[in-house]
Order: sequence, then structure tokens, then C-alpha cells
Amino acid sequence: MFNNVYAGRRVLITGHTGFKGSWLACWMQKLGADLLGYALNPSTSPSHFDLLKPPIKSVFGDIRDTEMLIRTVKEFRPEIVFHLAAQPLVRQSYQIPAETFAVNVMGTVNVLEACRQCSDIRAAVMVTSDKCYENRERHDPYRETDPLGGFDPYSASKGCAELVTASYRNSFFPASKYNFDHQMLLASARAGNVIGGGDWATDRLVPDLMRAAASGTTEKIRNPLAIRPWQHVLEPLSGYLLLGEKLLEGYIRAASAWNFGPQSADHVTVEETATALAQNWNAVKFTVEPPPSALHEAGILKLDCSKAAEQLNWHGVWNHQKAIEKTSAWYRRYYENGLLNTDDDLEAYLHDANRSNLDWIR
Ligand SMILES: NC(=O)c1ccc[n+]([C@@H]2O[C@H](COP(=O)([O-])OP(=O)(O)OC[C@H]3O[C@@H](n4cnc5c(N)ncnc54)[C@H](O)[C@@H]3O)[C@@H](O)[C@H]2O)c1
Repeated sequence: MFNNVYAGRRVLITGHTGFKGSWLACWMQKLGADLLGYALNPSTSPSHFDLLKPPIKSVFGDIRDTEMLIRTVKEFRPEIVFHLAAQPLVRQSYQIPAETFAVNVMGTVNVLEACRQCSDIRAAVMVTSDKCYENRERHDPYRETDPLGGFDPYSASKGCAELVTASYRNSFFPASKYNFDHQMLLASARAGNVIGGGDWATDRLVPDLMRAAASGTTEKIRNPLAIRPWQHVLEPLSGYLLLGEKLLEGYIRAASAWNFGPQSADHVTVEETATALAQNWNAVKFTVEPPPSALHEAGILKLDCSKAAEQLNWHGVWNHQKAIEKTSAWYRRYYENGLLNTDDDLEAYLHDANRSNLDWIR
């Protein structure tokens, strides 16, 4: 997989104790990477990271602690960095806007400063979000060239993280001076709304519904008509890993911004997603009850991923229906039998990617 670039490679993942980071650590471990994670202790109970207990090196530190982060990076001397650590919740960002900007924007600056100070680093993938675009509530999917923006503090912080990344790339790691003045290629990745087992964040549709199902209660859906680019967690991760491979291989054009989202047919509403989950697990029950004074959340959000398809030959593997099946089965197995489906899901994903003849798995 991925041309074997990760085998024996020193890889730093920030945010490895979170939902996406723990899946990435699990996959990266199977690729034979020498892995170090930097993050806070898991903030949910249960947590996918605690359940998996991946046998990797972990440093528990704050991304805002510049000194500790840089010291950690200098000691470990990673060859590639995947930066996922963030305050990732829109509704929480209304409660703690300053902290959201500090973690998501200055945290990104700190990771990039660490990259400047560690000459072993050859590549970095900065994970932002589909919400980094200026949302015009249009049905046209957003392309990488669309203006950045963000209404709520979370979305704006991810737009800022994109600007910071572009600024560091232009100023310190320009592709035109690669292998002359510097040896690092820097990219950013904007994924869709990620679902899959092992997410226990609050105010996210899937974890909210799964928790309610497990406790026999009915969940209230607040934004039924909102359209999102739903995808299984392994989809953006295959994109990040492929992007990392290209950067490590010195493919200069990879040093830019990339959308990794689902096919257009999989941009569906919150209610359709909740209904599909309920069809897969009959314990899932919900009613539609928008709160009287709702905080603003984007209505329509779609991603155009033709750049990744054309230039990286990246394609999704599982559609919305399959992602829903895998997600509900994961939680059901966990809540009913106390078992984790993570390894099985990864195996099944690799099997299906192989059957689809995707380049990265040959
Ligand atoms: N989950 C999604 O649907 C989605 C969609 C698009 C983008 N993203 C982005 O993907 C990344 C991972 O998201 P997730 O869903 O796994 O979130 P998560 O909340 O599950 O994990 C966040 C991780 O960041 C770490 N972190 C948070 N604050 C920190 C701090 N101050 N110092 C050090 N580490 C800190 C946490 O410890 C955790 O490891 C984020 O950058 C998020 O914005 C997520």
C-alpha cells in the first residue's frame, strides 16, 4: 500500500487520541510506520483510542504549548507530520470561540514552526475541514479554488488554518525552491462529514444517535434538512495517506490544498442519514425537533473532489449506504457484545479498495 513509503518511516500524528487520529494510528501501525502521537488525553468516555490501546509512543501535551511541541518534534525527528489535533465541534466553538481559534489556528502555526525547526521533516499534511469555505448555501460543490470563510468560530478557524498553511508554504516551503532552499512539501486536506465507529463526541449526529440507541432513548434531530458530504472515516484517511505518499515522493504538485469527499450522490440530508442508520439498527430512534433559537449552522455543504481524482487518482471506496452499514454495525457490536470492529472494517475497506483496483493499494 502507498508504495510502501510508510514502512519504517518516522511519522508524527497530532490528535491521535481522537476519532480520526485513532483510526489513522491504527492504519499507520499496520503500514509499519515508527509512530509518535501528540495530543491531549482522550476527552470522551468511552474513547476509541482507549479501547484500541494502540502500542505506539504517545506524548500527552497541548498543541498550544510551543516549547513542548517543538522539543517533542526535535527529539523524535519525524519525516512526515499529519496534523489533526483541533477543537473540531461547531456548537462548542460558540461556547469557547477564543480557545477554538487558539487551538485550531495557533496550534497549526506551532506545528508549522516545529516543521521549520526540524530539518528531517520532508512532508506535512494539515487537516482542516470542508467547513473552511465561505458558505454561500449553494448546491454547487466547493472546489479548492473557492474563497475561504466560515460563519461560526470553528469554520472560520479552519479557514484561518488554511491561510496559515498557504502562507507558510509560500514563505518557507515554496515548491519552486524544493530541494534547493528547503526539503519539505506542505499540503492541506479538507474532508467531509466523517462517520464510522468509535466517535463519542457531543453534538454530532452519529454519536448522539448511537448513544441514544444504546440507552433506549429517542434523539432529537435539530437540523434535518442540512446537506452534508458524508463519508466513512477510512475515506479521508486513504486520501491523507495517498497525499502523504506523494509529498514524500517529491511530487511537487501535491503541495497544495485538496478536497477528499464523497461522490455527489452521497451528499444527503441529516434526516436521510439518521433514517438510514435507523434502518440498519432498530434501536436507533429520533424525532425532528429544531430548537426554537438554534445557533447558525451551514445548511448546504458539498465538496467537489475532481482535483484529487484527476491529479492523485484518489477515489472513494464505500458509498453512503455502505458507510452507514459499517457505522451502525460497529456501534451495535460494541454496545451489544463489547467488541471492536475496527480491524475488521479496515480489512474490509482494503479488500474493497483492492477489488476497485485503486492505485494506492496495488
Ligand atoms: N470528524 C469530522 O467529521 C471532521 C470533518 C472534517 C474535518 N475534521 C478535522 O479532523 C481532525 C480530527 O477530528 P476528529 O473528529 O477526530 O476530532 P476529535 O475531537 O475526535 O479529536 C481531536 C484530537 O485533537 C486533540 N486536541 C484537541 N485539542 C488539543 C490541544 N489543545 N492540544 C493537543 N491536542 C489537542 C485531541 O486530544 C484529539 O486527539 C480535526 O482537525 C477536525 O477539525 C473532522
